[in-house]
Amino acid sequence: MGKHLGTLIWAVLLSMLAANPLWAAEEDEEPAPFVTPELVVPEPASAVMGWVDSREPQSLNGSWKLLVDPMQVGTPGGFFGGWATTRTPVDAFQLLEYSYPDAADIRVPGDFNTQRQELFFYRDTVWYQRNFNVEAEADTRYHLWFGGANFDATVFLNGAPVARHKGGYVPFSVDVTAHLQPEGNDLVIRINNRLGDDTVPTGRTDWWPYGGLTRDVMLVATPEQYIVNAKVVLNNDRNAITAEVATEGFAAGDEVTVVIPQLDISQTARISDNGDAQLSIPAQPELWHPDAPKLYRVELAAGDDRVSDQIGFRTIETSGTTIMLNGEPIKFKGISTHEEPIGRDGVAYSEADMRVLFNEAKNLGVNFVRAAHYPYSRHAARVADEMGILLWEEVPIYWNIAWENADTLAIARDQISRLIERDWNRASVVIWSVANETPYSESRMKFLGRLIDDVRELDDSRLVSAALLGDTRRELKHVAAHLAAHGQGSDIASDEEKAIFQGVLAAAGEAAPEPGSSFTLVIDDPLGELVDIVSYNEYFGWYYARALAPQMGVSEQTIRKLMLQFIPQVTMSTAFGKPMFISEFGAGAKAGKRGEGVWTEDYQAAVYRAQIAMLSHSPQVQGMTPWILKDFRAMLRSLPGIQDYRNRKGLIDQNGRRKQAFYVLRDFYNGPWADTH
Ligand code: GCU
Repeated sequence: MGKHLGTLIWAVLLSMLAANPLWAAEEDEEPAPFVTPELVVPEPASAVMGWVDSREPQSLNGSWKLLVDPMQVGTPGGFFGGWATTRTPVDAFQLLEYSYPDAADIRVPGDFNTQRQELFFYRDTVWYQRNFNVEAEADTRYHLWFGGANFDATVFLNGAPVARHKGGYVPFSVDVTAHLQPEGNDLVIRINNRLGDDTVPTGRTDWWPYGGLTRDVMLVATPEQYIVNAKVVLNNDRNAITAEVATEGFAAGDEVTVVIPQLDISQTARISDNGDAQLSIPAQPELWHPDAPKLYRVELAAGDDRVSDQIGFRTIETSGTTIMLNGEPIKFKGISTHEEPIGRDGVAYSEADMRVLFNEAKNLGVNFVRAAHYPYSRHAARVADEMGILLWEEVPIYWNIAWENADTLAIARDQISRLIERDWNRASVVIWSVANETPYSESRMKFLGRLIDDVRELDDSRLVSAALLGDTRRELKHVAAHLAAHGQGSDIASDEEKAIFQGVLAAAGEAAPEPGSSFTLVIDDPLGELVDIVSYNEYFGWYYARALAPQMGVSEQTIRKLMLQFIPQVTMSTAFGKPMFISEFGAGAKAGKRGEGVWTEDYQAAVYRAQIAMLSHSPQVQGMTPWILKDFRAMLRSLPGIQDYRNRKGLIDQNGRRKQAFYVLRDFYNGPWADTH
């Protein structure tokens, strides 16, 4: 008995040594304590699962549990054991240092930053958990579908890591049929909203990096053989509807049928061996237009599977410097937005949120919205389809990106393809934008060139653009000379300042402009070659005065006042025979602040009047989306009493209070500009 007991104790001790690195350390090399092993998790389905709303999915929205984990304690395999499953102590002796049942509640969809005051600035890991039941049926597949999770999400179901998606803002799904149990499914999502140098966007954005399950979460049921997605658009000659259908599980030769009852269309095609089917159906639909946003019910059938959607048919193209909608010239009377609701902090996540936001844009007289700077929820384009608002959709390639980092490129390509595969049937969406204010470099051109190729491969029925910065340094040199010439004879500048202006003009020599002479700004960023519409962000009246005043040694007041008089003499143009679009201009104002100077409604309105005078006589300019409809949250904007972590360039404040400039732009859009071509 004694000898065996001894052996038994040794065996137990040895196994404990093997299980606990801390103890084992004494044996061989010194592993760092608390190392969290990298988890190997499969990717989600590469293709976006489309048409999901017609499948009556089981919503997993609602109240979830949230644990906050700034030190990555929860990652499975770590010293603290991991939080990928819900566990409760079996008895008083079991040591567990986390508990979902006792955790705080959090609403899904929505960001966590504005639901918990202490998480307002938080940018790191949290864990979401909820249980759900499912009456699983035979011959049925079950897919977890996420509208978007910011920014790095790992999905665990009943303890199994089923999918990891990096990037945020776009939909992804995973087939979890094999992991489901009838009752008490334990769904845990680890999410990290920290952004860095190699993410998309990087960690420096002029909008709030809202984190969490910001979009709908659903369980989608399909037959074993099902329709994954389909693109249904009108051809450029506007005499046929083409459908490209992707399926899963069917045999080559099986059939897909497209039915459009209102057009009396029912046509069938055979599925090829890679699961796809193509159809071209002669048709003369009533064309979708902002003034008449006609939508048609489209039904797809294959085997036992049935899906449907409401789709509008229109064409969009350019001809020289003109934009053509349904073959007719159109100008984009627009406004930029962020995905934030009016009157509530945080992300806009519902159809209702988007309806209120776009309705206020409509009150401005717009026919176009730039949905900056990242993909919004699927509700945005659906609401725009119904309300008759043309849309610019964008991926957050913003400012400086790690252009030479292969992982960064992979995230960007994943984002643009998922955005397109989700919204390619939305008539409202007319422009895919691949970037915003990215400084010129060879690696930038290569990166964006790759994205633009992807866009054209996936969808050649829409226009491609990017918001360019242009060579601001070169442009401002010209502007300085013009301001000097203008300032010479003005009663704005002091005598000392006039002397400085004299010096500027002398330095310009032959090139010195005449007082009151006009100036044509030419955008020639080489990316203009690759896009269909040359878009440009400019801040005459706001940032440029701040840059020029110290450079010229003249007061900012003088430069601002001269600039407001000078702006109407500027003409915007590009070096490319393509339509030009002003994707941003603007000025900040605190609602209710009146009088002279920056941050007053009066100054903002004056900038709008000057900009409108400039843009309405720039023949190449075929559209604009001033920055921005509503004041929005931004960590870059801390000026107490004015900004308080909001960018104040809105035409309405966060509660919807309109500023003077709102009416300046509305009156312009209700004027004749858009009807002159
Ligand atoms: C930039 C940028 C916006 C930003 C704006 C501003 O142009 O694209 O994201 O918010 O300027 O400075 O207000």
